[in-house]
Amino acid sequence: MTDKDFSPSGYTIDKTEGKVTYKSPSNIALVKYWGKRQHQIPANPSISFTLDTCTTTTTLTYKKLDNRSTDFSFDLLFEGKPKEDFKPKISTFFKRTEPYLPFLKNYHFSIETSNSFPHSSGIASSASGMSALALCLMELERELNPGMDSNFFKKKASFLARLGSGSACRSIEGDLMQWGDHKDTLNSSDLYAIKYPYKVHPIFKNYQDTILLVDKGSKEVSSSLGHNLMHDHPFAEQRFDQAHKNLSKLKSIFEEGNLLEFIKIVESEALTLHAMMMTSMPYFMLMKPNTLEIISKIWAFRASSKTHVCFTLDAGANVHVLYPEKEKEKVYQFISNELVAYCENGQYICDQIGKGAKKL
Ligand code: PMV
Repeated sequence: MTDKDFSPSGYTIDKTEGKVTYKSPSNIALVKYWGKRQHQIPANPSISFTLDTCTTTTTLTYKKLDNRSTDFSFDLLFEGKPKEDFKPKISTFFKRTEPYLPFLKNYHFSIETSNSFPHSSGIASSASGMSALALCLMELERELNPGMDSNFFKKKASFLARLGSGSACRSIEGDLMQWGDHKDTLNSSDLYAIKYPYKVHPIFKNYQDTILLVDKGSKEVSSSLGHNLMHDHPFAEQRFDQAHKNLSKLKSIFEEGNLLEFIKIVESEALTLHAMMMTSMPYFMLMKPNTLEIISKIWAFRASSKTHVCFTLDAGANVHVLYPEKEKEKVYQFISNELVAYCENGQYICDQIGKGAKKL
């Protein structure tokens, strides 16, 4: 498919007003997306676990205008209150998606959104937020074009979410999502994410993710800035190549349930992501001393307990602690005894792999 396939040729129904609500999850990448080309095309393919508990719920109320407006007409409530500083991101999203949603200027939209996790937790809400909004808009498009096929609906929702925030395209479905062209993954695309199409061992079902909130402050360097610094990065080509290779290696790891090899790839990907930040120009560091304390505790506990606990990081200081469900009791004990002390105000979130977004 090309982006042209997402431009509708016309609509069969006229819809004057309505309301739709979606709850969409966040996701955590195992092979990381870091670096992009124009139009939110990823520099390398990535794969993620869709989460379950960390979600954004968005209600979109739409009302047709008497005359098509010259600009996008919308208001935004975040957790019940007007939120002016979120509006530029939504305007950019509307601008980027308008060629594929030509009805946008025909309506006034009220967007009401809230997160299941505290806003100041350092957890990025862009994946859950942009995917929820993309799904609400797709629901309106389906009203205008009732014959729409459900596979196309999901693909286009992912395509639109990508234009809001790259990683958001992996939040539409679960439980394992891949985004980006990859020679060893059938039907993979730079334009949208797909459900991982190969066999996955039951050990990866219900995988646990305990998110340790090490630093709840807002990010010092935005991910868009970080992605841009990959353009003239001295290690960019090797890094992109490594991501392709790691995805190929994961195929037999997922099939066989090889946790030792899984851990190697996941932890190496997390550290490589941060290594890219530390070796860009300007260089920056998002890990905090407590991030490193937690990592070394995890390594020591894994060696002594013979469990398969491991960590990954996103673009921040928080640590995602990953482990199979059957080791939950042991690992949870370890987390509460040894790791919670490194979290800001002792805060953490217990999450697990989820099935994707839901219409409410
Ligand atoms: O979706 P963005 O542009 O916020 O980038 C997210 C990048 C990482 O979270 C660091 C990695 C990933 O693949 O999700």
